[in-house]
Amino acid sequence: MIGLEAQTLLERFHQLTEHRQSHSMRVIGVMEELADRHGLDPELARWAGFGHDLAREFSRPCLLAESRRLNLDGDEFMTSEPILWHGPIAAKWLQNQNIGDPSVWQAIRYHTTAGPGLGPMAKALFIADAVEPGRSFPAREGLQALALKDLESGYRAVLEATVSYTQQRGLALHPDTVKALRESDNRG
Ligand SMILES: [Fe+2]
Ligand SMILES: [Fe+2]
Repeated sequence: MIGLEAQTLLERFHQLTEHRQSHSMRVIGVMEELADRHGLDPELARWAGFGHDLAREFSRPCLLAESRRLNLDGDEFMTSEPILWHGPIAAKWLQNQNIGDPSVWQAIRYHTTAGPGLGPMAKALFIADAVEPGRSFPAREGLQALALKDLESGYRAVLEATVSYTQQRGLALHPDTVKALRESDNRG
């Protein structure tokens, strides 16, 4: 039986636009595949996909207010780009309701920026969010195939693609993304 807290999160999910719900359902699909290939817990993988964008449609003032209400640690970057709060906020919602486990909360927390020291669940979610079949960029299928074969190489390739896309648009990289990139450079 599904608990009351989970029911509240389900309600939140259904308040999202259809577009966002479909995206999240496709992310869940990719998470299931990645979990299957790489030995992750399938239920936790589904929670990560389900929860990752629960706060994605909050307005900027709501994101800032909710981050304060939840006492989340942020940086100046987060204040100037409040949309970056949507991961940490949703992670905290699941954590406060004891849904999922630390791997799920880490995954949701870092799904937009990536970060140093991420576990396989977080790497999988970062990948799944970027390569779900609703995304349309030329390398999408290749990245998905690579990640299904090798999670680490897939993560690294998606991270590099995300970084170059961000830079092409003239946007600054979040410090966590820079740290993630350095970490993956040191490994490679
Ligand atoms: Fe997101
Ligand atoms: Fe997403």
